[in-house]
Amino acid sequence: MVKVVKTRVEFEGRFRDEYTVVEGEPLEGWSPKSGLKIVGRPHPRVDGAAKVTGSAKYTHDVYLPGMVYGKFLRSPYAHAKITHIDASEAEGLPGVLGVYTYKNAATLGFGGAEKVFKQEVTYQGDVVALVLAQDESVAEDALELIRVEYEPLRPLVDPEEIMGLDSSKDRIVGPKLYERGDLEKGFAEADVIVEESFKTQAALHNCMETHGSVAHWEGDNLVVHTSTQSVFNVRSALSEELGIPQSKIRVVSEFMGGGFGSKFGAGEYTVVAAAAARLLGRPVRIVLDRVEENLATGNRSQTVQWVKIGAKRDGRITAIHLKGLVNVGEDGWVADLGGPAKMMYHCPNVKVELYGVKTNLVSSTAFRAPGYVEGDFALESAVDELARRLNMDPLELRLLNYATRDPVTNSEYSSKALREAYLKGAELIGWRSEPRVVRDGAKIRAKGVAGAIWWGGGGPPAYAEVKVNADGGVTVLTATQDIGTGTRTALAQIAAEELGLPFSSVRVVLGDTITELRSPGSGGSQTLASMGPAVRAAAHDAKNQLLEIASQVYDVAKERLTIREGSIFRSDGSVLCSVGELLGNLGDFSVTGRGAREPNQEGYMVNTFAAQFAEVEVDTETGTLRVLRLVSVHDSGMVVNPLTFTSQVEGGVIMGMGYALWEGRLVDGESGVVINPNLNDYLVARCSDVGEITPTYVEPEDPHTNSLGVKGIGEPPIIGVAPAIANALREAIGVRLRELPFTPERVYSAIKGINPRPTTAKYL
Ligand code: MOS
Repeated sequence: MVKVVKTRVEFEGRFRDEYTVVEGEPLEGWSPKSGLKIVGRPHPRVDGAAKVTGSAKYTHDVYLPGMVYGKFLRSPYAHAKITHIDASEAEGLPGVLGVYTYKNAATLGFGGAEKVFKQEVTYQGDVVALVLAQDESVAEDALELIRVEYEPLRPLVDPEEIMGLDSSKDRIVGPKLYERGDLEKGFAEADVIVEESFKTQAALHNCMETHGSVAHWEGDNLVVHTSTQSVFNVRSALSEELGIPQSKIRVVSEFMGGGFGSKFGAGEYTVVAAAAARLLGRPVRIVLDRVEENLATGNRSQTVQWVKIGAKRDGRITAIHLKGLVNVGEDGWVADLGGPAKMMYHCPNVKVELYGVKTNLVSSTAFRAPGYVEGDFALESAVDELARRLNMDPLELRLLNYATRDPVTNSEYSSKALREAYLKGAELIGWRSEPRVVRDGAKIRAKGVAGAIWWGGGGPPAYAEVKVNADGGVTVLTATQDIGTGTRTALAQIAAEELGLPFSSVRVVLGDTITELRSPGSGGSQTLASMGPAVRAAAHDAKNQLLEIASQVYDVAKERLTIREGSIFRSDGSVLCSVGELLGNLGDFSVTGRGAREPNQEGYMVNTFAAQFAEVEVDTETGTLRVLRLVSVHDSGMVVNPLTFTSQVEGGVIMGMGYALWEGRLVDGESGVVINPNLNDYLVARCSDVGEITPTYVEPEDPHTNSLGVKGIGEPPIIGVAPAIANALREAIGVRLRELPFTPERVYSAIKGINPRPTTAKYL
């Protein structure tokens, strides 16, 4: 039965009210105590072999007969006006099928062409021209034959500089304000006040698979293979830009090499590929290279933050004030740095003021727990300083100010086991049993802790179908993407568990709009918490139908039958038949179960939590910092697959270490040119950089989230890693570093009390 319900939908802490259509009745919730056989156990990825043998087909692997290659010419300047552009030589090169600039882009035939091809380029990497050619090397040669003259204009890239300029007020967005209680009163009540300022750098996603699409037309139907976190977002964007109905567009993302927040939209490469394919009547492939990727697809925002925290002598926090600047690039969004300041602690008086600053850099975009990674670094570093001022154990201070209800809405949490996570982590890292600091010649080892809070409760809309074939094989159909997290495997576990059929009999088909099963974007840590319950509901529906069939074939009341381990049992425990036998006797048919994600229970705040403990070793002679151990303890509700849980946490922690120690976009302050848009100069963590990581979880029962009791795990592991390392470093060297990343030069300079070399390159 179809029901329309109104529900609050949350994505990364932003809420909207939506009507949604659900089907079926709510199922009894699963919990770690439900005695599940397949869910909650480690299952290797169902697509692991396909990935390591190279047979898994990513967008980058799609090559079609007669395919045309598209390449963009991009601006070398951060801000410039094109005074002259001549593409005739490029057009004349044999093998070139078209060159497009702002002058003729309209002929490509899509809506936003003038927004993609501009005469005034406003960041390095902005699109100047497009070449379409019969192969990649011809396209690259043609790019070099396009004659462009630029009139360079003054770029503005530094938000702090812009805030001081009277002429740049139109570049400032906000303030975005949040306030509760009485801040002044809170600080007046405080015995101790800590005031600190922090800077965080822009970080680049560096997905293994760069952004890219391959588009082709079958008659008037468009098919697009693309590396995306949301096939439906891409489809609606294409429909709008190309002016064709959604039903004529198929978007496919079968395998995908990461997104981390940078692949929610269609991107100009997709729209241009589709438009060009229509124009030429041939497939068109546009795949960005690493430098383009790092210049033109967005980044985690650079921030400048001031934090002020007041507390009573006994440690109770009375007031928190956060002011932040967010470098949003050309036209990005102001990520919510204030999340942790608002939500982490039981504190009656809180104020957050955020300003976005527009600069001549690419628009910033979502990046794994956007805002919270940056804001948690500032807040949790400041809280650590507060503990020092109070002469308290920083873990005790956190537990003392623990929020038992959501401080923003005063709602109950659907579940919260952060306290247990802190205690488990403390045990594992030896917080109390081992010395906090150990000196060994020029090397010092020390430990630090930080907490993390995030979202990831998921919600509707999410729809799935579960089909059981006459041979007992199961196909789960959805359209959500597996961006590398193990979604296929987890959904197969859920379907098998609910059906009572073997895990190995389930195949999951996803990442394809042709299913027309509305599915969430793979982001906001919501995929499993949104999609999993829909798959369970669909499996439940299919199971009901199987039992109905058995009931009719064997003339037994349906209520007296259950399915376990592939067999149908009577209520007295005897076997009626195997599912294979039942279906085998019925000829060719299949059962289709349908399932929809139920709305979240009203009145509860669904958050995920983590406790991060770091042990670092500092070489005081070189400033080199190594993370020896990182214990990452999560409350993400019930864990469906401990193996994929572990790989999510390891990935997030490693990304967090990269952010803390090495990563950072370096921009020349004068020219606005990015100095390190490649993996040679932009340092992501390598295997040899990473010490021992201990991913683990506490598993609270959560009857209020969804029928699985699961919350997300995609983003929580990266939050809190940088401040845990920062706090360990502070413990080791006695000096607080307030600017990320903690490069050897910065650490060395801090130890020696000297200023790092002045340079024109800035982390922006
Ligand atoms: Mo994310 S930043 O929701 O992929």
